[in-house]
Amino acid sequence: MCGIVGYVGFRRASDLIVEGLRRLEYRGYDSSGLAVLDHESQIHVRKAAGRLSRLEEIVRDDLPDASIGIGHTRWATHGAPTDGNAHPHLGGCVDGSTLAVVHNGVVENFRELRARLEAEGYVFRSETDSEVIAHLIDSCLTRALQTGPRVADEIADTPRVVAVREAIAQLRGTYGLLVLFRGQSDLLVAARLGSPLVIGVGDGEHFVASDSSPLAGHADRIVYLADHEVAVLTHDTLRVVHRDSGRIEPAVKPLEISAADVGLGGYSHYMLKEIHEQPETIRAAMRGRLSKDEATAVFGGLNLTPRQLQRVNRIVLTGCGTSWHAALVGEYLIEHFARLPVEVEYASELRYRNPPIDDGTLLFAITQSGETADTLAALREMKRKGHPTLAICNVVGSTIANEADGGIYLHAGPEIGVASTKAFTSQCVVLALLALYFGRLRHMSYEDGVDFIDGLNRLPDLVTKALETDAAARVIAERYRQASTFLYLGRQFNFPVALEGALKLKEISYIHAEGYPAAEMKHGPIALVDPLTPSVFIIPQGKVYEKVILNLEEIKARKGPVIAISSPGDERVRHLADEVLEIPEAPDFLQPIVSVIPLQLLAYHIACLRGCDVDKPRNLAKSVTVE
Ligand code: G6P
Repeated sequence: MCGIVGYVGFRRASDLIVEGLRRLEYRGYDSSGLAVLDHESQIHVRKAAGRLSRLEEIVRDDLPDASIGIGHTRWATHGAPTDGNAHPHLGGCVDGSTLAVVHNGVVENFRELRARLEAEGYVFRSETDSEVIAHLIDSCLTRALQTGPRVADEIADTPRVVAVREAIAQLRGTYGLLVLFRGQSDLLVAARLGSPLVIGVGDGEHFVASDSSPLAGHADRIVYLADHEVAVLTHDTLRVVHRDSGRIEPAVKPLEISAADVGLGGYSHYMLKEIHEQPETIRAAMRGRLSKDEATAVFGGLNLTPRQLQRVNRIVLTGCGTSWHAALVGEYLIEHFARLPVEVEYASELRYRNPPIDDGTLLFAITQSGETADTLAALREMKRKGHPTLAICNVVGSTIANEADGGIYLHAGPEIGVASTKAFTSQCVVLALLALYFGRLRHMSYEDGVDFIDGLNRLPDLVTKALETDAAARVIAERYRQASTFLYLGRQFNFPVALEGALKLKEISYIHAEGYPAAEMKHGPIALVDPLTPSVFIIPQGKVYEKVILNLEEIKARKGPVIAISSPGDERVRHLADEVLEIPEAPDFLQPIVSVIPLQLLAYHIACLRGCDVDKPRNLAKSVTVE
């Protein structure tokens, strides 16, 4: 949730760190800070509560030149978002700090560690759990310098690296952390357990970051640090040590994202850019995965034997937020086409449940970031019980992608807007591919497979057409932006879209919104209907069209305004609804991927008109790495 950036090399560290933090700001944005070493190797720290722009102002005029530093954007867990609680935290006595630390994660035993360190004489300057790490490393360093290392020295670590390793051995919880030492102008130490860290390798310089976006345009190679690994970096060397196996050879891979992937590309917001990228991201999710000859889908990374795949008799889909909504779309698709029982579980619930699961059950963890704590915990729990686990994930090299037995990448490129858009449609596409795949393994005929593929191939054009609702969505947004509640209603394949439309609106505009199966609204939500409460109906032509018309009439009978997402030229809907956004005709099963587009645009425009910070909505974070 927090973002970490570090640099050691030859360029002005503070510029690179601030730029990197800006790219990570979507992860957490209630305060930020950085620390650099000046030419005398003294530590200089600057921190600011609020958005990164405040830190930028402070750093611009008032920081010594430095070619090594660490920075952080915070999403508060322990302690309010104040200057004092912002990272980096200093370790050591008040007048003579020996090191600075930035930390992402949660230290569960921070109270007992803090009490012990206070007894040793350390004075705490913040309410955070993270500050204990700084003093703990200092305490271990003092001892290492005096009495020699306690950690077995088979890898010839220096006292500072030993101190970090001794300190993290005492932490309970999760961490991605980065340490800068006074007097060491060519040394950064990073460590990871449960919170992602990557290392960017350049020529004569190294970067450390919570994800790859700060590296784009600066480094051409990347190393994904794994749990229990410690990385020791200088400007031109990288050494990785594993807690158990000692020194290891880091896997250096080419960095596959460019600066353009993490820029705004001329759009006013990342969310708008990402909404408009969807024809291309949908193509990317399907690329190389359709076999017309076999009328099926092809996956490279499932890592399951044909026998295991044949034996699958039940599928569990799990995730959080928007990914959970995609799972609901997947449930309809897989049950319909593959005739396999599917269960959709909130990951936060699944992790503590003990559902009876047999040998033929396959778990898919659906996650854009690949780092969501609840989804990771649910995956681990299922793995522990011996079930095959697969990930449907966007971020390459993320924890969930690494820990699952196999998986399918979305290839949607970095999603930076906190409210997920392109990841949702790509998740739905991948789930459609899975429905085709399991369908063809079981009952689906060759001809039906071919029709399915034809439908999928038309999708990017259908989505392009649906994006033409942009201007009309803005006009409707003008009319309804003052509403305090919205209802979103749809049936069958479009019920999860109703949930997703409502989630988009509440996330970024702070308007209360509820999604319901259209027929279910008469069991409660209809009590909310009045002339000031708009209902958004997803009502394209299809099998349940007539049923949804009845539900729409029930709302109109109570004078509720209706915004309809309908098929082109639908006179009946035009006559009944107050507003209409037309989407192109699509087969029922692909409608969610098309009908969600105007809902994303409607939420976007309403939020903009209300003056909300669309890409960084209050209280939210892009990747939720705490429970
Ligand atoms: C956060 C984000 C949501 C996202 C959810 C799950 O709440 O704000 O947009 O849907 O996490 O994230 P994941 O990365 O696992 O898909």
